[in-house]
Amino acid sequence: MSRSAHPAGPRHGDVLPEGHYTAPPTDLNALDPKVWSRTVTRTPDGKVTVGGMEVSRLAEEFGTPAYFLDEEDFRARCRAWRDAFGADADVFYAGKAFLSRAVVRWLHEEGLNLDVCSGGELTTALDAGMPAERIAFHGNNKTPEEIERAVAAGVGHIVLDSFQEIVRVAHIADRLGTRQRVQIRVTVGVEAHTHEFIATAHEDQKFGIALAGGEAAEAVRRALKLDGLELVGIHSHIGSQIFDTAGFEVAARRVVSLLAEIRDEHGVELPEIDLGGGLGIAYTSADDPREPHEIAEALNDIVTRECAAAGLAVPRISVEPGRAIVGPTAFTLYEVGTIKPLEGLRTYVSVDGGMSDNIRTALYDAEYSVALVSRSSDAEPMLVRVVGKHCESGDIVVRDAFLPADLAPGDLIAVPATGAYCRSMASNYNHALRPPVVAVREGAGRVIVRRETEEDLLRLDVG
Ligand code: LLP
Repeated sequence: MSRSAHPAGPRHGDVLPEGHYTAPPTDLNALDPKVWSRTVTRTPDGKVTVGGMEVSRLAEEFGTPAYFLDEEDFRARCRAWRDAFGADADVFYAGKAFLSRAVVRWLHEEGLNLDVCSGGELTTALDAGMPAERIAFHGNNKTPEEIERAVAAGVGHIVLDSFQEIVRVAHIADRLGTRQRVQIRVTVGVEAHTHEFIATAHEDQKFGIALAGGEAAEAVRRALKLDGLELVGIHSHIGSQIFDTAGFEVAARRVVSLLAEIRDEHGVELPEIDLGGGLGIAYTSADDPREPHEIAEALNDIVTRECAAAGLAVPRISVEPGRAIVGPTAFTLYEVGTIKPLEGLRTYVSVDGGMSDNIRTALYDAEYSVALVSRSSDAEPMLVRVVGKHCESGDIVVRDAFLPADLAPGDLIAVPATGAYCRSMASNYNHALRPPVVAVREGAGRVIVRRETEEDLLRLDVG
């Protein structure tokens, strides 16, 4: 196909169909630093680079689709969180956002701790050398086997999520002749302003033990009686992709008031509170995320104030950002395969990946942006929907975006801010091969998770 415009697609200035899209950007070649990782730039000759490497060269070397992770940006974000919270607080990276051995080593080197929520994440963390005492183990239904491995490894915290688990962890610790440091996860009754599936502090959901009705106070009573447990704190995580600090502040206030109740009833001041993760990032230029230091100031202020009012010593605060660290550091690179202009509607651009490497658009109606990165273009903006190659019409990567009208098969396009919950939620739907994760730094790319092969698929198929 030639690089000519696709005449049927809507153009800048046309009356466009109803949808999520906003007005076309004035410069399609611009790369908004809000959504692209720190070292991404477009050179004067139109080429996009990351970590000093030209994206087209990365595609030649590592293929597409692939996730390219800006290591310098990842490390800088770790340091920003660590510095914002300072030496009297702990930052736990939430491994569910994206975890690999290289990531564990970077976290370790940058002085962060790590949250895991499954035996698989625990194994990865320990295997890559994260000291067990810097690991916290989460989850609403940890198996006895997982609990036993975590206790035996000596993880720093287990976050208790139910009444059954209080007893299970205590028994396992007794049996192993140890005392496990634990926190109790409470639901504070906050309605976080985010997608229903990623809000976690309202009462009608599966996580934690409700503050309401005295449930959390009862959990504390039981935990304090068990020899196998050393109850050190209260944990709250209100949800994910949240932009405003108000929900965190309400949660902090309610957690501190539970600490005061515990002190009054048991004469014990628990030394820690964990306020979870959930800070939102920019997926499109319309998003306006808070910086780590703003979150740190807001949380420190509210906890200090509430503790002073309750006559409590200020506990050690911890937070668990996942998306806010890794999300903005990676983009997914795709090659354009087919282009279908639909008269009066939009142009469908099909790429060589899809819902198997980014399920978030289909699952949460997530919005993303996209740019042509193998060259620049002065063509008019064209309203597109970027779709994958899977057998579903819901296989949408970017619902509404503008790309230059001279887009052609073979062009490379990239979707930024795919570092979190894309590779970690990737699937083999349609026997797709999950893409590699390539860390880019100082002019070189290094595969940290390799591309799956058809042999990998067949290896599991033992029938
Ligand atoms: N701490 C706890 C206890 C969590 O459950 C989570 C996320 C985090 C921390 C990290 O949250 P973050 O800072 O990454 O927002 N798959 C969904 C997100 C699910 C989040 C689950 N828990 C998505 O793609 O948006």
